[in-house]
Amino acid sequence: MNNNFPMLNTGYIYLDNGATTWKPEPVIKKINEYYNDFTANAHRGDYDISLRVDNEYEGARKIVADFINSDYKEVIFTSGTTDALNLVAEGYFRKHLQKDDEIIINYAEHASNVMPWFRLANDLGVKVKFAALNDSNALTLDSIKEVVSDKTKVISLAMITNVIGDLRDVKEIVKFAHERGIKVVVDGAQSVPHIKTDVKDLDCDFLAFSGHKMCGPTGIGVLYGKYELLEEMEPRNLGGGMNASFDSPEEIELKSIPTRFEAGTPNIEGAIGLGAAIKYLESIGMDNIQKHEVGLKKYLVDELSKIEHIKMYNKDTISGTVVFNVDGIFSQDVAIYLSKYKICVRAGNHCAKLLKNKLGTDNTVRVSIYIYNTKEDVDKLVSLLQDKNKILNEML
Ligand code: ALA
Repeated sequence: MNNNFPMLNTGYIYLDNGATTWKPEPVIKKINEYYNDFTANAHRGDYDISLRVDNEYEGARKIVADFINSDYKEVIFTSGTTDALNLVAEGYFRKHLQKDDEIIINYAEHASNVMPWFRLANDLGVKVKFAALNDSNALTLDSIKEVVSDKTKVISLAMITNVIGDLRDVKEIVKFAHERGIKVVVDGAQSVPHIKTDVKDLDCDFLAFSGHKMCGPTGIGVLYGKYELLEEMEPRNLGGGMNASFDSPEEIELKSIPTRFEAGTPNIEGAIGLGAAIKYLESIGMDNIQKHEVGLKKYLVDELSKIEHIKMYNKDTISGTVVFNVDGIFSQDVAIYLSKYKICVRAGNHCAKLLKNKLGTDNTVRVSIYIYNTKEDVDKLVSLLQDKNKILNEML
């Protein structure tokens, strides 16, 4: 699809894009520019390069806001999806939930969209309920309807999960939830990099995502929240940059949103690198990205279906993720074998540790596709998986 990625020169076939993505030249250039040409802090200086930092940092926020169709003030920079989900659980829901309230999640969610809710369950006595997955291991509104009650206060779900990769109908789920006064938190880590995201259209209450899974730097992510909800959210960190004044414990005045939630020196190069990454993705077009990934997944599924010793767990889901096992061979051994041929895949439980009962296995091999992957990458992978004896002989 493009050749702007220096990592393409290394000879690796990188199929672990659910974990992180490679970075294109414009992103690397932008980060280098910050280090080479205008290094200074943000929001603190009166000299020209510091003012440039302010413009670039706040400009990146505007790029993010336009990308997800939110208001500029509704974008909070975090260190990633995990940080964003913890912020919303701790900052908003800890203060808005009470004993016996219910939170609905499901067995396909990543640890970062499970553990913050488990902590609230342990601390507040709220209940975490699980919506069932269907025969294709996907989540639908019907299974949410089965567990919803008049005590349900939150539904938290990935728009696309990191293992099964099913694209959930978040818009429909939000509509159903809002008719019952239920808030919806969306983990967008595996969706925002791959499909067009419009928070106004989805009408979700909160959305979390990471920069490094969408061609941006590590250590930067976003929490989007509806402005009126952010006004009721507590900042987790107090300190420099987020306060207007503090004269005594009783006299603390905080800055407005979103600065209130970004105490300390922000991740400047992360934010402006993310801005450059979004511009890069937009230059390709999110619809083209989705089309490319879904097409390549279909090709991979078709090819793997011809191999008898391969079992796939998510053939039908609409994304660029395929999880499978080679009959009788531990997933990590498959990954190590492929690594000898410079093919990078992920093996294990992928941090979705509650999926094991539904899948009937703890571990799978995961291929996750992105913009720079090609049909040739898939052909090479498939050719290496054809012969089970070859894998067995070479894996050690
Ligand atoms: N959450 C990332 C993954 O799925 C790390 O690999």
